[in-house]
Amino acid sequence: MARILLAYSTVDGHTRKICDRLSQCLETDGHAVTLASLSDMPLPDPESFDKVVIGASIRYGKHRQELYDFIRINQRSLDDRPSAFFSVNVVARKPGKSSPDTNPYMRGFSRKTTWRPTLLAVFAGKIDYQQYSFLDRQVIRLIMWLTHGPTNPHDCVEFTDWASVDAFGHRISRL
Ligand SMILES: Cc1cc2nc3c(=O)[nH]c(=O)nc-3n(C[C@H](O)[C@H](O)[C@H](O)COP(=O)(O)O)c2cc1C
Repeated sequence: MARILLAYSTVDGHTRKICDRLSQCLETDGHAVTLASLSDMPLPDPESFDKVVIGASIRYGKHRQELYDFIRINQRSLDDRPSAFFSVNVVARKPGKSSPDTNPYMRGFSRKTTWRPTLLAVFAGKIDYQQYSFLDRQVIRLIMWLTHGPTNPHDCVEFTDWASVDAFGHRISRL
């Protein structure tokens, strides 16, 4: 049994939902999981865990600064143990942009940090227009229109491939 930290950076909660699903997989495989938001204090200490998994969503082209702050403060601990990182964004709904090698935000992540997680994954996120402010809704609708996605302001579409999330969970178990 391994002690596994699942830390997440989310705005609307979808990355947390993916972490909940990963947590179920890892607990089924017999591990002890701790979930922690990178927005909450005190932040978890990776030294207390055998493996560390971090997930973060994209907003307006970027992962939030709290992700990079956590990595910078804890990089030695992260480098010392098996680790995984996943990014959540809607560009990943496109088949040619859904892998760590082809997703532009994962490439940006690798340029921005020297942490090299043992495992990487990219998951397509969710669009829920009614949850957004008026301005965010209009901007996302425009982006969706340009990229042939859903534009109805009442739409709530989850693009996440949950079988891929489960497969990633079992890969983390085997790290
Ligand atoms: C205001 C806003 C900006 C977004 N910007 C991007 C973006 O630049 N690229 C992208 O692929 N997805 C973008 N998304 C989609 C989010 O990454 C997606 O909704 C994800 O599921 C959010 O995860 P979270 O709920 O954990 O924050 C954006 C979503 C919102 C609401």
